[in-house]
Amino acid sequence: MEVSELNLPELIATAGAMVAGDKGLLAMDESTATCNKRFEKAGIPQTEEARRSYRELIVTTPGLGEFISGVILYDETIRQSRKDGTPFVKIIIDAGIIPGIKVDTGAKEMAGHPGEKITEGLDGLRGRLREYFQMGARFAKWRAVIAVSVGIPSRGCIEANAQALARYAALCQETGLVPVVEPEVLMDGEHTLERCGEVTEEVLRTVFIQLYTQRVRLEGIILKPNMVLPGLTCPRQEAVDKVADATVRCLLRAVPAAVPGIAFLSGGQSAELASARLNAMNVGFKSRLPWALAFSFARAIQQPALEIWQGQDANVPAAQRALYHRAGCNRAARRGEYNAAMEKTWA
Ligand code: 13P
Repeated sequence: MEVSELNLPELIATAGAMVAGDKGLLAMDESTATCNKRFEKAGIPQTEEARRSYRELIVTTPGLGEFISGVILYDETIRQSRKDGTPFVKIIIDAGIIPGIKVDTGAKEMAGHPGEKITEGLDGLRGRLREYFQMGARFAKWRAVIAVSVGIPSRGCIEANAQALARYAALCQETGLVPVVEPEVLMDGEHTLERCGEVTEEVLRTVFIQLYTQRVRLEGIILKPNMVLPGLTCPRQEAVDKVADATVRCLLRAVPAAVPGIAFLSGGQSAELASARLNAMNVGFKSRLPWALAFSFARAIQQPALEIWQGQDANVPAAQRALYHRAGCNRAARRGEYNAAMEKTWA
């Protein structure tokens, strides 16, 4: 199957729809282990039914499609249904939202590289992608994680992860799925904003060399990078504008103009800061950038709703209002219209 003849127009249309209307992506693709960890922290039972109810809360949030163009599901979730039996995928499509699917099988310790990880999931991937396409998915996600510390990341880790991302992306495009290419430079650590910028630039340059080598069509991908931030325990935290400047400078150096959209992960930032930083980038640079600057947040959209829900049916409407609010704040941030007052007036 020749991608350029068969699928490129469809891929371009899907990628365009994923960043259209100043909307963004909602990641709700936590693996069972990660979802359970977040439930445990919030005092919610870690059962399949609790995970299903929580995902039902998200996909049935009234008006979600006003702000969200696509949702990223997980293998368990894409097969689940609302309590009345309606498949989640149908509810999502009926809301005008594109279903997507996480397809990596997780980041594992990398042999010979203490403290570093390599993302797995390439074996059998073509078959899984075809099944997800049949189920209605139109885009996929694969996350590589790059840790920053003394002496790391290594070239070995960066190159192996970049090549896996590129091989995944090529398989997605062959199948008609837009690959969301996610190389995440982690926030954990004491490193400065400058160091995060250097590492992020090296990682992105390596990823784009590999995407080219594996014949991935850049017009039919979405890049999902980290923002350029100081480490969580760095004593020098930076102002919102400085983060916005450093992030955009790094992306301009490393991301080709053919890429239609960049959708940031939130990576452990607070929900408000993630919105404020995305907003600052769009206020300062939007008219001069070749790609859309959007969002693909999990925690920065979901966390307040999860804390309100607490596993109780009675809390569903309030949790859905919180989710709707966060999604709306992030669409405002894409427009450069987000401000702190929005956090006070919604509840
Ligand atoms: P966070 O926004 O919580 O970082 O999650 C985004 C994501 O999809 C990670 O793969």
